[in-house]
Amino acid sequence: MKLENKVAFITGAGHGQGASHAKYLAREGAKIVAVDICEDIKPIYPLATREELDATVAAVEGIGSEAIAIQADVRSSAQMRDAVATAVDRFGTIDILCNNAGVCIVEAVDEISDESLDAVIDVCLKGIFNTMRFIAPIMKAQGSGKVINTSSAGGLKALPQVSHYAAAKGGVVLATKSWANELSEWGINVNGIAPGTIYTGMITGIAGQLGVDSDVAFVDFNANNMFKGERGHVTVDDISSMVVYLASDEARMITGQVFPVDAGWVSS
Ligand SMILES: NC(=O)c1ccc[n+]([C@@H]2O[C@H](COP(=O)([O-])OP(=O)(O)OC[C@H]3O[C@@H](n4cnc5c(N)ncnc54)[C@H](O)[C@@H]3O)[C@@H](O)[C@H]2O)c1
Repeated sequence: MKLENKVAFITGAGHGQGASHAKYLAREGAKIVAVDICEDIKPIYPLATREELDATVAAVEGIGSEAIAIQADVRSSAQMRDAVATAVDRFGTIDILCNNAGVCIVEAVDEISDESLDAVIDVCLKGIFNTMRFIAPIMKAQGSGKVINTSSAGGLKALPQVSHYAAAKGGVVLATKSWANELSEWGINVNGIAPGTIYTGMITGIAGQLGVDSDVAFVDFNANNMFKGERGHVTVDDISSMVVYLASDEARMITGQVFPVDAGWVSS
């Protein structure tokens, strides 16, 4: 196993990609700190439930590893400070940070409300700072760590009608590169992943907001990928495989990079 006894702190672990990352990392021996808000944020589509977060923990235990569920909001620095303290109390340290929580909403720039602007920027951008500020000292003290930030293919290429989301995810790219430089002295790898469209709660939620069938929306969002049809449908497994790689020592010489896993959309 590649990650025996490593401790991974994952935000947005209730469902979607975060829940998948928990299982993939656990299969490689990692212990999992599964963090999720488990309540909705207006005006965003439904987020994960407490039952789903508990199911992530149960799945990790079923794999034979250990996990704890922490219900907390990445928008709150106080809640992230407490979550980090709880994780260290239970497992002694944090070796891997997956900044995965994110929300999106489709709006023309002149339709963006105060509520939706705060939701998107605070979860997607401020949220990664609220974990990193408290986990960086732990990684510095141990002289190692792997940080994996989830950006988006839309953080690397213009995304009309979701400019707040694209701007936040573009911010994740530059935070990744800045932190990689800043933390290299302590042997900490900081990288990012820029997923293409994946059929999770985010896509069904956006389709619901647009009043369109989510299967139709999913096909539509993938229309400009290099790989066409089902061949171009990125899955949570594609992203989790990259997370495992970046968390492992196989990627020890990689830092400051953000990798599109997008069926070729960014380069098309
Ligand atoms: N699905 C896609 O097409 C796609 C594409 C590119 C990037 N992404 C990014 O991938 C990441 C994972 O998204 P997903 O596809 O699994 O979506 P998802 O909606 O299925 O999962 C997001 C998770 O984050 C949690 N979350 C949201 N706000 C939170 C908060 N304030 N505090 C703690 N947890 C919170 C939710 O409860 C949920 O469990 C996000 O950062 C998203 O922006 C998704």
